Amino acid sequence: MDIARALEVADFERAAEASMAPQYWAYLAGGAGNGGAVRANSDAFGQVSLVPRIAMEDCSSPATSRRLFGRILTMPVLLAPTSPQRLFHEDAELACARAARATGTLMVVSTDSHFGMDQIAAAAGGAWWLQLYAYQSREHVERLVRMAEQHGAEALVVTMDAHFAARRFGTERAGFVTPAFVDFSIMRSIGVEGKPGAGHARIARLPLTWKDVEWLRGLTRIPVLLKGVLHPDDARRAVETGVDGIVISNHGGRQLESASGTLNALADIAPAVPSQFLLLLDGGVRCGSDVVKALALGARAVCIGRPYLWGLHLAGEQGVAAVLALLAAELRGTLQQLNLPGIDAIDASIVRPASSPHFWSGYRSMEVHSYA
Ligand code: FNR
Repeated sequence: MDIARALEVADFERAAEASMAPQYWAYLAGGAGNGGAVRANSDAFGQVSLVPRIAMEDCSSPATSRRLFGRILTMPVLLAPTSPQRLFHEDAELACARAARATGTLMVVSTDSHFGMDQIAAAAGGAWWLQLYAYQSREHVERLVRMAEQHGAEALVVTMDAHFAARRFGTERAGFVTPAFVDFSIMRSIGVEGKPGAGHARIARLPLTWKDVEWLRGLTRIPVLLKGVLHPDDARRAVETGVDGIVISNHGGRQLESASGTLNALADIAPAVPSQFLLLLDGGVRCGSDVVKALALGARAVCIGRPYLWGLHLAGEQGVAAVLALLAAELRGTLQQLNLPGIDAIDASIVRPASSPHFWSGYRSMEVHSYA
């Protein structure tokens, strides 16, 4: 596929599937069980409609930039942590980090990355956060945190929804095994040997508790976010624990079969936390209007996972950049059609349930989520 001719992100998906080894595709596309939670993510976006305004101020060049922890991003779309990216392209995380940097956004780098943290940090030019999986012991975790500090990670994203391996029937049926050419440099550099992937004796992750979160929070001055929050009570507890934000996520539907769609979870969580508390969302974001829907329901920004891996597979750094550029263009186009001058003008009044008014509980009562 000529990536410059892609009309929509789904074009990258079709082309990537057609050109990828079936077992890698099964791993990339896979969801827990038979994929119920993957479908829940995309269904949730389909169940929300946008309500345009008319005659606002000039909307010909809508403003899309967003500040996160002092860094101004060109748009509120980040690269979610994924691994092993080496399955999809030999440049793996280096290509993604460069594309994020070139586009003016940032990459969340997985603990399970192929390349070393020094190499990825250099490629990212400061625009990166570290996603944290806890392996083996608190000492290993502390080593990882210190390394992240040393290499300039601007936030830590602690994944809370993948302590235990999930069954993914499609991936298992395809016989996916992590191939030998995939390395786990970051893990090795903190002294954790072995492979975390499917098809191997998986290295156990520490099942983190709130006590561990408190410990982690006290360990570093880097902002800490919890990833994998779906329940409003957990979001409230995250606020109390003093973390800097949460990523509302079901791991792209890859962990709990039948997990709720993340947009539904966002609509329940946003009214339950203080309006300045940082909410990010991932799962099923595939176009500019999905970004707008998430922002309207209270997310400060979204992350994408599979879409940029499709681009990575097709054309390395250029492919990832092409996916991001398409989303940026769609976001601007959606804002123009909504007659909004920029993302700061998005609020809850521009979304409504497409069908049932009882689709989510917080909808009518929610206040506009406003960040200072
Ligand atoms: C992931 N995800 C993930 N999350 C994480 O915290 N650490 C990781 O190493 C990975 N690895 C990973 C691999 C692959 C192939 C996928 C598809 C996903 C989950 C990821 O961060 C994110 O939550 C989802 O990908 C978002 O959903 P979409 O955009 O893929 O629908």
